[in-house]
Amino acid sequence: MFSKLRADFPILQPDEKKSLIYFDNAVTTQKPQQVIDAISYFYAKDNANVARGIYKLGEAATDLYEQARAKVADFIGAWPEEIIFSSGTTRAINDIASSWGMQNIKSGDEILISELEHHSNLVPWQQLAKKTGAMLKFIPVDKHGNLELNKLKELLTDRTKLVAVSHVSNALGTSNDIKKIIKEARKVGAKVLVDASQSVPHKKINVHDLDADFLVFSAHKMLGPTGIGVLYIKKDLHDQVPPFAFGGGMIFEVDLGKTTFLVAPKKFEAGTPPIAQAIGLAAAIDYLQKHVDFELLQKHESQLVTQLIEGLQKIPTVKILGPIEQLKSQGSIVSFVIEGMHPHDIAEYLNQLGIAVRAGHHCAQPLAKKLGIDASVRVSLYFYNTKKEVEQLLLALKQLTKNYK
Ligand SMILES: Cc1ncc(COP(=O)(O)O)c(C=O)c1O
Repeated sequence: MFSKLRADFPILQPDEKKSLIYFDNAVTTQKPQQVIDAISYFYAKDNANVARGIYKLGEAATDLYEQARAKVADFIGAWPEEIIFSSGTTRAINDIASSWGMQNIKSGDEILISELEHHSNLVPWQQLAKKTGAMLKFIPVDKHGNLELNKLKELLTDRTKLVAVSHVSNALGTSNDIKKIIKEARKVGAKVLVDASQSVPHKKINVHDLDADFLVFSAHKMLGPTGIGVLYIKKDLHDQVPPFAFGGGMIFEVDLGKTTFLVAPKKFEAGTPPIAQAIGLAAAIDYLQKHVDFELLQKHESQLVTQLIEGLQKIPTVKILGPIEQLKSQGSIVSFVIEGMHPHDIAEYLNQLGIAVRAGHHCAQPLAKKLGIDASVRVSLYFYNTKKEVEQLLLALKQLTKNYK
């Protein structure tokens, strides 16, 4: 379905020395030539700082940067002023915790997250709770890797000020019912932050339709460059979020004793922003919009996930983690363990064969502990992966488990 697009990805082209089967897309995706070219073209032909120079080059760079913002906004159904360029998901969550969080969360308040969060959506809230005296609560995860949303009603109270959850778990691939979580959170007046770093690359998202207050994701997980992420802040909240960094680019007027600030998004973008990265992200969105229909993508990923799960189920020592039926219909991530083998050894064995998978706790240690494991092997797919690659992985794992017996 998408295999002809592989030609756009220089790193996926085999040569005499190496071939690569890349199954670590949840950590970062590979980049098509179009994105690489957009970034190098900017540096070669259009490079200037933005919102400063009253000269052609500066104005052109500013236009490109603002066009990138408008493109991102259109891609997720937001207004351009609701899009703040950050350095990534982690930075964006930390910024909201330290600005909105410190201003709005007090001792005795509650922050509700889930047991399957990435450390980036857990540790900043832990720190905030420690500083403010707020209480951190957790939506439990069951043994299949599903959030126990039937407990939501009792977990949400009139002290809940924020619910922060991932849309899709990076460790297990579980898709969480974000709409339901937001609807319930609204009933107690809590704000909701959605960590969409594993969903925006794979699903059509409309932030206004979801009704999220904050939504974050990283460009590098969706064909774009590293060093840039998106922080969506709902327009109604702009006045309630203090700036999280101060300096050039975000001020309206400065006196020696006091400063007034510009309005969003400038208010939240102090200093030189990630300009070339924003242009790279815009090129990534162009690429996705031109070549990747999200419905077809889901179909493709679900075929590969089903092939992988059914193959793994034939190996008696393999235990698949996560909600198998849900993954087969809408997943792109499969995590598993093999009895008697350390995930690092499995990943190293696959590495010798040119197959890149992730082994570890996937930055979700509390989840691993709850599941009673230290680590797992994670295979995460994207549109350029093929049936043949999944077959090769399954063959390698069959061989490994046979040799080990
Ligand atoms: C669900 C989730 N949240 C947050 C992050 C952190 O993203 P970044 O490292 O780009 O800040 C990741 C990265 O793997 C993730 O998968």
